[in-house]
Amino acid sequence: MAGEEGKPCSVRMKNGRRFLLVLFVAALVIGFSLYLIYSNPHRADVPSCSAGIGEALPENTRVQGDPSLESASASYIQLPGMNATSEYLLQGKCDIFSGNWICNPSGPVYTNNSCKFIEAPQNCLRNGRPDAMYLYWRWKPNGCDLPQFDSFGFLNAMKDKSWAFIGDSIFRNHIQSMLCLLSKVYEPVEIYHDETFKSRTWYFSNHNFTVAMIWAPFLVKSETFEDDDGKASSEVHLYIDVLDNKWAAQYSKYDYVIFSGGQWFLKTMVIWEDNTIVGCHNCKNSSIKEVGIDYPYRKVLQTVYHFMSSTEHKPIIFFRTWTPDHFEYGEWFSGGVCNRTRPYAAWQYNGKPVDHEMRKVELQEFWTAARRGIRLRLLDTFFLSVLRPDGHPGPYRTFHPFEQDKTAKVQNDCLHWCLPGPIDTWNELIMKILVDEGEICYT
Ligand SMILES: *[C@@H]1O[C@H](CO)[C@@H](O)[C@H](O)[C@H]1NC(C)=O
Ligand SMILES: *[C@@H]1O[C@H](CO)[C@@H](O)[C@H](O)[C@H]1NC(C)=O
Ligand SMILES: *[C@@H]1O[C@H](CO)[C@@H](O)[C@H](O)[C@H]1NC(C)=O
Ligand SMILES: *[C@@H]1O[C@H](CO)[C@@H](O)[C@H](O)[C@H]1NC(C)=O
Ligand SMILES: *[C@@H]1O[C@H](CO)[C@@H](O)[C@H](O)[C@H]1NC(C)=O
Repeated sequence: MAGEEGKPCSVRMKNGRRFLLVLFVAALVIGFSLYLIYSNPHRADVPSCSAGIGEALPENTRVQGDPSLESASASYIQLPGMNATSEYLLQGKCDIFSGNWICNPSGPVYTNNSCKFIEAPQNCLRNGRPDAMYLYWRWKPNGCDLPQFDSFGFLNAMKDKSWAFIGDSIFRNHIQSMLCLLSKVYEPVEIYHDETFKSRTWYFSNHNFTVAMIWAPFLVKSETFEDDDGKASSEVHLYIDVLDNKWAAQYSKYDYVIFSGGQWFLKTMVIWEDNTIVGCHNCKNSSIKEVGIDYPYRKVLQTVYHFMSSTEHKPIIFFRTWTPDHFEYGEWFSGGVCNRTRPYAAWQYNGKPVDHEMRKVELQEFWTAARRGIRLRLLDTFFLSVLRPDGHPGPYRTFHPFEQDKTAKVQNDCLHWCLPGPIDTWNELIMKILVDEGEICYT
């Protein structure tokens, strides 16, 4: 089914051969000029990443919730999610989700100056982050290479198409990365936002291509009682069998849908099912049964997949796996920080127990749903993300947080990602998956 609308890549290549030759010559000329410019000895220092990954962990300190280092690799191998990748391998493909971060001296393809879509809390460089080595890594899957995101190829394939990103602020982060990558070729305009700027839509008029962020952190109907700082005056009420109509009502408009749950499912919640309270997570009211976090999450994913398999519209759907945070020495509300400056090596850190619990639910529900005639694709960013404690804004979510007071206590963000940063890789993975399926082509 995949790719039936588009010409296979090889056909397009043939048509474009003469163009490619011209491009090649042009690239040589440009490349040589760049060489002349950049071989200038006065060029700013690129931090050296050649020393490799795996910043030494201080003796006697253990990352909070870190499985002991000796057993980390073993427990990774036994993660329930490994089935996800093993099924991928059975299809004879390279497992793009397992690998290592390797040195990338050429650095990111856009900068904080060239992209205007980077929002202030993600613009770590402008906010005064002093170290820059986190920019000089690329994801190297075991057994193959992950090409750079190809903005031309992507936009060409997206003529008359539309994407919806359904979820929470991690997708806001992800979309910013996609807009930055694409705006090297063509800059979209915002054509819609809600009052809170949480749901927004951008439009590439040259390509008649639409990208929408649909704010639906729980995916299902919910009532929340919190202010802008996340201070809650009451528990969340979550209706695990009722879809959030904000996305469901417009689902049929989109050719590509990407969704995920996230940290919102860790909140204190009263759980409703079939119009009755069936339980609670973390509630003070002891007369309501504690159901944990995996039950509501599983039910919500089932509700979503049920809708996707029973509704007539069949977009290509990506499910993005759980996003790990890297708070150490505390949690987000208790002074936790993320001050590492290098990626972990693949064996070095494996996430927190809660990550594994949620990821297990996700992968079980994913593979159940994938057998039900949905055009479902796994975007398993968990493992490559867990290896990047250095990619978060930390204190640099705010503008020059230590300007006044070098020892100021500032709340850290160890969940979202700096831009440019590791989250750019997520778009490279999407591109690779769609290219492998013949949906789109590298130019
Ligand atoms: C994982 O894969 C094995 C072999 O394909 C299968 O027997 C097992 O049931 C799978 N586990 C899950 C959780 O899907
Ligand atoms: C980009 O980052 C540099 C610091 O590396 C900063 O001086 C500059 O103001 C930033 N520009 C923008 C537009 O954020
Ligand atoms: C833009 O794309 C939509 C489908 O997403 C199509 O219905 C519409 O006709 C297109 N508009 C133009 C001007 O091509
Ligand atoms: C606790 O939950 C029960 C059952 O839903 C409800 O009747 C009672 O009013 C709740 N108590 C408080 C203090 O909220
Ligand atoms: C990171 O922060 C912790 C807690 O504030 C501190 O003990 C540690 O020395 C810091 N590490 C680095 C490399 O700055």
